[in-house]
Amino acid sequence: MNPAPNLILVGPMGAGKTSIGRRLAERFGLEFADVDQAVVERCGATINTIFEHLGEAGFREREKAALTQLLAQKGKLVSTGGGAVLDCDNRLLMQRRGFVVYLRVGVEAQLKRLGRDRVRPLLQRGDREQVLRDLTAVREPFYMEVADLMLDTDGLSPGGATSTLAQLLAAQWQRSERAA
Ligand code: S3P
Repeated sequence: MNPAPNLILVGPMGAGKTSIGRRLAERFGLEFADVDQAVVERCGATINTIFEHLGEAGFREREKAALTQLLAQKGKLVSTGGGAVLDCDNRLLMQRRGFVVYLRVGVEAQLKRLGRDRVRPLLQRGDREQVLRDLTAVREPFYMEVADLMLDTDGLSPGGATSTLAQLLAAQWQRSERAA
């Protein structure tokens, strides 16, 4: 939404939300926050451990609580996990509390970027390519639904994507300093 007090990045695993988010936060003088990191800190356990003991549903509850707490603030750049858009309340909250950027990435680029990943529970099973295709089919409409702006990161370095986004955001995002 515009004007908005926060910037929010959504998109699938491997889209570059964290690496681009950190750089963008610096450019715009925002405080960077990563929802996964907030969940890990709040729970004192890794994402893998949370999935193992509480299942995906348990993780989603904690992800929602962390997102809600972060978006009650202003002046943040919030990088969300790839599945945060699955929850309807999360989507409404993001649209209300931030200017939302969808970082898109194709499955081929995801496979390259996530090749050696061992920390994402959804990737530690079966046919990775099929898992990623299935996730995209379900989630892409939600990313599109919440997004104020979309950038395709295929073939872009984090630095290149950041420069492009910084220009687009300077023209499109009206920063609001209001808390509510
Ligand atoms: C998930 C993405 C991960 C993390 C968790 C689940 C998903 O975050 O939240 O492993 O459902 O796509 P990133 O998108 O930052 O990798």
